[in-house]
Amino acid sequence: MTQHLAAPAAHTTETRTDWWRGAVIYQVYPRSFADGNGDGMGDLAGIRGRLPYLRDLGVDAVWLSPFYASPQADAGYDVADYRAIDPMFGTLLDADAVIRDAHELGLRIIVDLVPNHSSDQHDWFRRALAEGPGSPLRERYHFHPGKGADGELPPNDWESIFGGPAWTRVPDGDWYLHLFAPEQPDFNWEHPAVRDEFRSILRFWLDMGVDGFRVDVAHGLVKAAGLPDIGSADQLKLLGNDVMPFFDQDGVHAIYRSWRQVLQEYAGDRILVAEAWTPTVERSAYYVRPDEMHQAFNFQYLGTSWDAAGLRAVIDASLAAMRPVDAPATWVLSNHDVTRHATRLANPPGLGTQLRTAGDRALGLRRARAATLLMLALPGSAYLYQGEELGLPDVTDLPDAVRQDPSFHRADGQDGFRDGCRVPIPWTTEGSSYGFGTGGSWLPQPTGWGELSVQAQTGDPGSTLELYRSALALRRARPGLGAGRAVEWLDAPEGVLAFAREGFVCTVNTTAAAVRLPAPGRVLLVGGDDGVETAEGTVTLPADTTVWWAV
Ligand code: NOJ
Repeated sequence: MTQHLAAPAAHTTETRTDWWRGAVIYQVYPRSFADGNGDGMGDLAGIRGRLPYLRDLGVDAVWLSPFYASPQADAGYDVADYRAIDPMFGTLLDADAVIRDAHELGLRIIVDLVPNHSSDQHDWFRRALAEGPGSPLRERYHFHPGKGADGELPPNDWESIFGGPAWTRVPDGDWYLHLFAPEQPDFNWEHPAVRDEFRSILRFWLDMGVDGFRVDVAHGLVKAAGLPDIGSADQLKLLGNDVMPFFDQDGVHAIYRSWRQVLQEYAGDRILVAEAWTPTVERSAYYVRPDEMHQAFNFQYLGTSWDAAGLRAVIDASLAAMRPVDAPATWVLSNHDVTRHATRLANPPGLGTQLRTAGDRALGLRRARAATLLMLALPGSAYLYQGEELGLPDVTDLPDAVRQDPSFHRADGQDGFRDGCRVPIPWTTEGSSYGFGTGGSWLPQPTGWGELSVQAQTGDPGSTLELYRSALALRRARPGLGAGRAVEWLDAPEGVLAFAREGFVCTVNTTAAAVRLPAPGRVLLVGGDDGVETAEGTVTLPADTTVWWAV
């Protein structure tokens, strides 16, 4: 694929001080954050009530996972109406109140946009089904006749990301494509009505005052012409490594260029963030050329294990990849699709990002705290996932009967362990659902969850919550930390990372043993093991510990 990284110059008026370049963005997963009406499901009223908590935590923006009208076949990533709020989350008035209150508190709001597929209950899809083969509405999705004598075979060999074939046959004989669950039919982005509709949806939410969009499956909208077979029996293993005919096709970029133009019709710095699982960070750079999106999630960073050489390599590659397009690098350790980093790092490396084992919890928490301080010392924008500031582990022992992740059921329980990071978060030490709400919680919370609550950790200087608060306050006080595009690596023993930023040094010991180094300056903050000792110009860095230094 040949494409040019250099973008047409004229399109942007942004300056290096744009808020998003070094922003810390906190992901709220609405069903699990706070329940305002006591039905056991988080909602917009709950979120509104907790906005002051997020302001005090010190984040710049809040990204809300989908709250749109949806049958919830994939926890809201199956949208039936892009301009309506699901009653389980509230109303458009509630959304308006969240956006207004957030702005008054100095927080920006980013909403999730799901353009690759709709729900099978979307008006277009329902009508397309009802009208039968040949209906013009079927052209807005990928409806095709099957192969074989009676069309009994799917149109090609693509597999769903959630397991099983990516095609479902409808009673009249046609097949339709769904890269995810059958309840999530893929739009046909070659159709002008689809393109027009999404520009209109963008305007609807921009008019509501949102500051940006996190774009779901941003790499999936355009499929290779002719929908060619992949020809491999084990397709899911190819994902993320090879270019697939349904992912990362060059045609997606024209869509994002047109969306950028829509955003530029609006005042304020509104942003587009790509959820694009590309094979390399270099491929991610194409999504953030100056006339396309603003940021792309760095999943290569998320997937790197706790190892100094690997981390240094991915940091260097990420910064280098973003330089030619003048986009900020981004960093992320947890989200609603992967095992929380406190649990990933508690397990041996190489197990992937969806784990079933709790591992060594103390080790995982120590490393998670160290990993977060490393992330927050890097230039660019950082994404936090609700509850990581409490050091929450994944809930790895949820009974199968309560699991709701559609991929768990489609993959016969071999895969799909995303419920473990979606358990409602604890706010108080006691009480119904530990302060999540007054009516229980849609996924069971583990016993002892209250000990990890916001209430239990507030004011405890050794808590993970206070570590996050301190780190975010220091980062705000030193805007240079999020800005810039490079780190200066310093000499360090094997297994240790040391780098300088303006007036600042970060040292990270990823090994299992304490390491002695020359002390670079005055200790600002410690994440990991608190037993850092400085004496006569040297420091002893405990295992799995990051230290921030003023120099
Ligand atoms: C990515 C979302 O983060 C995930 O939760 C969802 O299942 C898929 N896209 C499909 O929309």
